[in-house]
Amino acid sequence: MTRRNSVHLTTAIVLSLLVLVRPSIAAARDAPVYSHAPASRDGIGKFYAGREIAHVMGFAGAQWLDRSEREVEERPDWLIEELAITPALVVADIGAGSGYMTRRIAPLLTRGNLYAVDVQPEMVEMLKDLASQPGMRSVIPTLATATDVRLPEGSCDLAFMVDVYHELKFPREVMLSIIKALKPGGRMVFVEYRAEDPAVPIKPLHKMSVAQVRKEMQSLPLVWEKTSERLPLQHVVVFRKR
Ligand SMILES: C[S@@+](CC[C@H](N)C(=O)[O-])C[C@H]1O[C@@H](n2cnc3c(N)ncnc32)[C@H](O)[C@@H]1O
Repeated sequence: MTRRNSVHLTTAIVLSLLVLVRPSIAAARDAPVYSHAPASRDGIGKFYAGREIAHVMGFAGAQWLDRSEREVEERPDWLIEELAITPALVVADIGAGSGYMTRRIAPLLTRGNLYAVDVQPEMVEMLKDLASQPGMRSVIPTLATATDVRLPEGSCDLAFMVDVYHELKFPREVMLSIIKALKPGGRMVFVEYRAEDPAVPIKPLHKMSVAQVRKEMQSLPLVWEKTSERLPLQHVVVFRKR
């Protein structure tokens, strides 16, 4: 074998080895709490506490988020009552999307603030438009990273996620960043479609059971406070920061 051929062969071997080990390099970047397996249709092939993480809903889905039927299907007015919003609260709408909940809650915070946080820059642009509209003074649009909500430490009385948690690529890291942003005793509220109910017309990976939410919070400094089943399709699961 000529020297040149041997260089080619070595390069080819190194390249094929890289292709073979690439998935494990990707996996190694993740904390050991995650595992990886072939992805199902609606999932990303990454697992946390026995659950496959769902695909992020792209900004092209904003119209679906803002559909008028949502008022009756999901009763956001009842959700606002469950969130017990008072005028001076500092609230974080994590995964605010196109601002469906933000635009309903912001006018109630006459002395407080509402961090409207999303990981997609296109969603944050929509939230900026919203913040410039009358009655939306309290809205602070915020671009998150996949692992960090990037909110000031100890700033929030309440953080909530509506149909978001199941699609966080790094649920543990994001939760740690939210807990850091909560004041001591601050509330963390999850609103997720009921996985326990096959009649809820949502893809399985985009639903969560209460047991799964509670299981995933067990190792974090959060204490479960209550679960409300008042909404037509979703649970409202409330925790407090220890
Ligand atoms: C199904 S949408 C729900 C939007 C909104 N909460 C609503 O109910 O209309 C999920 C949103 O979570 C956002 N999201 C996903 N991962 C995120 C992360 N790590 N940090 C912040 N937002 C995230 C997505 O970009 C998307 O806008």
